[in-house]
Amino acid sequence: LVMGIDSSTQSCKVVIVDTASDEIVRSGRASHPDGSSVDPEAWWTALQSAIADAGGIDDVEAWAIGGQQHGMVALDDEGRVIRDALLWNDTRSAGSALDLIEEFGAAEFARRTGVVPVASFTVTKLRWLRDNEPENASRVAAVALPHDWLTWRLRGFGPENPALDELVTDRSDASGTGYWSPDSGDYDREILSAALGGDALLPRVLGPLESVADARGRRVGPGAGDNAGAALGVGAHTGDVVVSIGTSGTVFAVSAERTIDPSGTVAGFADADGGFLPIVVTLNAARVLDAIARLLGVDHGELSDLALQAEPGAGGLTLLPYFEGERTPNLPDATASLSGMTLASTTRENLARAAVEGMLSGLSAGVEALRGLNVPLERALLIGGGAQSEAVRRIAPEILGLPVEVPTPGEYVALGAARQAARVLGA
Ligand code: XUL
Repeated sequence: LVMGIDSSTQSCKVVIVDTASDEIVRSGRASHPDGSSVDPEAWWTALQSAIADAGGIDDVEAWAIGGQQHGMVALDDEGRVIRDALLWNDTRSAGSALDLIEEFGAAEFARRTGVVPVASFTVTKLRWLRDNEPENASRVAAVALPHDWLTWRLRGFGPENPALDELVTDRSDASGTGYWSPDSGDYDREILSAALGGDALLPRVLGPLESVADARGRRVGPGAGDNAGAALGVGAHTGDVVVSIGTSGTVFAVSAERTIDPSGTVAGFADADGGFLPIVVTLNAARVLDAIARLLGVDHGELSDLALQAEPGAGGLTLLPYFEGERTPNLPDATASLSGMTLASTTRENLARAAVEGMLSGLSAGVEALRGLNVPLERALLIGGGAQSEAVRRIAPEILGLPVEVPTPGEYVALGAARQAARVLGA
């Protein structure tokens, strides 16, 4: 048996998989606190309860953790967390992102790290710390990502056993920091110290088949950022673009070549498999459907029925879906708007259709951006809560310009982590 973990923004999910049958035999779950700044100890408590909920791991031979990317977990030289972690959805470092772009230039940053800084990336959070909490910044001995820190804890390290040089990560999560080079596979120490104002220990980056051990001698895989974990779990291959419609929307493809996009639209991440994972992240996905369903006083099934009763184009109604500002395009203060309203076009059916079309158009801009970088795209795999809408499934092929498949809903990040654990075990 192997264990895969998804420590996501909202919760911790554990699956225990039989490597012989590839079936989930047990699972567990626990919630995380809300917010964009969270005490990592809360994730550790949740991980322990999710494992208990899954019946424990005495019979597990290997494990790996996938998780939310980019969060800054700053540790002092005794292995203690210095302050609450700043998560990917915390926007206080937007100004620090602009400072870094001004110092290095967007094109140079993208060439060196694969990304152009935005508030989500770890590098901007370190700069924010240095500028706003210099006392905390001066105590930073090591910087980990959420999945790295949890891996370290579950292996038996922590303030009571603070071996910082035992911190490990993987290529996919390292590539979301903004101070790792997809070319060399090494950290960019110059960028790190421009952000933090000094050097720090960073987790050793393990290759996809490398492993370490936990205190009980079990094999521990390198883990992955959640998107790369989902790619492994869903079994995405070259030519597939995964469109994940959750709280945020992510559009990513598995690619043998690294991408460089100085506009910052496509982040040139690495994947968990030795390749690359060019990705576009939008902030307005399933919540667009939630907002319009709420307004119309219907559930998601009814919203879908209404949308399918309207003609394509929604009678000219257009919903620009930037309800929560937007990350790609980088418009943090944007709002949503509805246009094209006439007496004839303003119906519940057209509004429902405009919501589905507007949300999918936001995601299709991501697909277009990948196409523009010559990433091979042959079919879209729709995952996440929004993919359960019949209207979304039927309208998506036209708007994305690709054949669409909808895999059975599943815990793909945790499954991807379990697959990785099975691989390091040689299973
Ligand atoms: C990726 C991103 C999110 C987080 C949270 O760049 O910000 O997908 O990984 O899940």
